[in-house]
Amino acid sequence: MKKVKVELKLNGKQFKTEVEARTLLVDLVRELADQTATHIGCDTSNCGACTVLLDGRPVKSCTVLAAQAGGRDVKTLEGLSEDPLMKKLKDQFLDKHGLQCGFCTSGMLISSYSLLRKKQKPDELEIRESLSGNICRCTGYGGIVDAIKSVQPGIEKERVAPAPEIQRN
Ligand code: FES
Ligand code: FES
Repeated sequence: MKKVKVELKLNGKQFKTEVEARTLLVDLVRELADQTATHIGCDTSNCGACTVLLDGRPVKSCTVLAAQAGGRDVKTLEGLSEDPLMKKLKDQFLDKHGLQCGFCTSGMLISSYSLLRKKQKPDELEIRESLSGNICRCTGYGGIVDAIKSVQPGIEKERVAPAPEIQRN
């Protein structure tokens, strides 16, 4: 199988590799870059466990080819470990019982982080809409929503880049 070269920024560092044209971004992140906080729950764009930030926007990394991420900025949960907002979110997920098995949690955190970067105090509907692409089979979502609501303001607002066109071949 013909390989293609891919170079991207992953969690703040340049990352170069060669992949098959059909390799998915989630497989590059997990298997080649060893960033295993990102999970694979379905591989069919349903569960959201594989959500990462691509140029600042949350995307399901099982729907993006690794080659499509070339030249772009990818962040996983590992890359946000020192981020003050992410730390607050993690604390609240623990405090409000926003996780049980934890399988969905990485994706939930990335989606809610993205929401709170855009809006400091979203209402419940906005929170639930922002999580509509993330499935949790354990919590019933109440603890997750409470956790996001409980993050205190004081966050720098940051406009994120428009979503790039992503096509799956
Ligand atoms: S693994 Fe990507 S959406 Fe489920
Ligand atoms: S905590 Fe188990 S799937 Fe969400």
